[in-house]
Amino acid sequence: MDGALSPIQQRNLEDKLRRKVIDRTGLILEIFGERASTAEGRLQVELAHLDYQQSRLVRSWTHLERQRGGFGFLGGPGETQIEADRRLIRNRMAKLRRDLEQVRKTRELHRKRRGRAPWPVIALVGYTNAGKSTLFNHMTGADVMAEDLLFATLDPTMRAISLPGVEKAILSDTVGFISDLPTQLVAAFRATLEEVTSADIILHVRDIANPDSAMQKAQVLSVLADLGVTNGEEGEASGVPIIEVWNKWDLLDDERREELGGLAQGDPDILPLSAQTGFGFDALVELLGQRLTGDAQLHVFTIPSSNGQRLAWLYAHGEVLSDEEGGQSEGEPAHQLKVRLTAREYGRYLAMGS
Ligand code: GTP
Repeated sequence: MDGALSPIQQRNLEDKLRRKVIDRTGLILEIFGERASTAEGRLQVELAHLDYQQSRLVRSWTHLERQRGGFGFLGGPGETQIEADRRLIRNRMAKLRRDLEQVRKTRELHRKRRGRAPWPVIALVGYTNAGKSTLFNHMTGADVMAEDLLFATLDPTMRAISLPGVEKAILSDTVGFISDLPTQLVAAFRATLEEVTSADIILHVRDIANPDSAMQKAQVLSVLADLGVTNGEEGEASGVPIIEVWNKWDLLDDERREELGGLAQGDPDILPLSAQTGFGFDALVELLGQRLTGDAQLHVFTIPSSNGQRLAWLYAHGEVLSDEEGGQSEGEPAHQLKVRLTAREYGRYLAMGS
């Protein structure tokens, strides 16, 4: 049933239809349960599942209470069973919350470590089935682009890629959005989606060939607004810049392709693409490189020649325009470098101290 069923409705339907009946929340929970691949994902799904079960117990309890009428005594057999079930669920939920807290602390640590690492983060978001994973695989799968990094094993949905002018960027895949996401799951996956709020760029992958594409976009933007990433207006970001990828371009007929192509051309934040055929892929890589290095400025550095680490950092993170030996720094022979660095990289350079 594409909606919510009370436990009693569910039972009556099952009796009449002689089939197992599940409602929207139940189904989504089943699917998430099957797909959850990380420890955190599994804990979150189980917690959401118990929350769902608990709310159903409460409902059937109220129902029993009503049936019991005015007898005013607590503790019939049905009620005791429900009380016991509720206690079990409560205890299990408390344990799951503690475990989750632990996992989150670990994740937070990893994020901090990554935060110190000098790599920008690109987060993929999109309605379920828009093609995020296909694009993710495409971008990370090609040998020239991909690199399996240490934390790839910590979180399988993050990979390092290289882009023009950007030695390394982290591409992060997120859980697909869906309309009427059960409230239990919104809460459960908020933490995972928080990764998005600290991204440098959000890639919003849209299934542009889907007749509901506009509704799906609105849903995604409203989730992003809930997370505090956008203000929920038409594609307008208050913080992290959003690039819209109009995916499944290959599925459009000529007329529609022409019409949408015109619209996309007039907007620098929109890119037609087919994750399946690879169309638009080069343009995307180019655009991401440009956006991440767009605010680059020229800086002049004098670095002691013995400080190989610092010199190597500048070569890795900026575009070195000239490098001459000469002058002194900290009483040693030095290198004079002219380097183009993005504001972000320059900030990181300053934060490293000397
Ligand atoms: P969730 O995991 O549910 O969030 O989905 P997703 O956004 O990761 O979508 P996924 O990459 O799994 O793609 C969904 C389906 O669309 C798959 O069957 C893909 O093969 C298909 N698909 C993705 N990109 C394209 C495309 O550019 N063209 C066509 N024709 N199909 C595509």
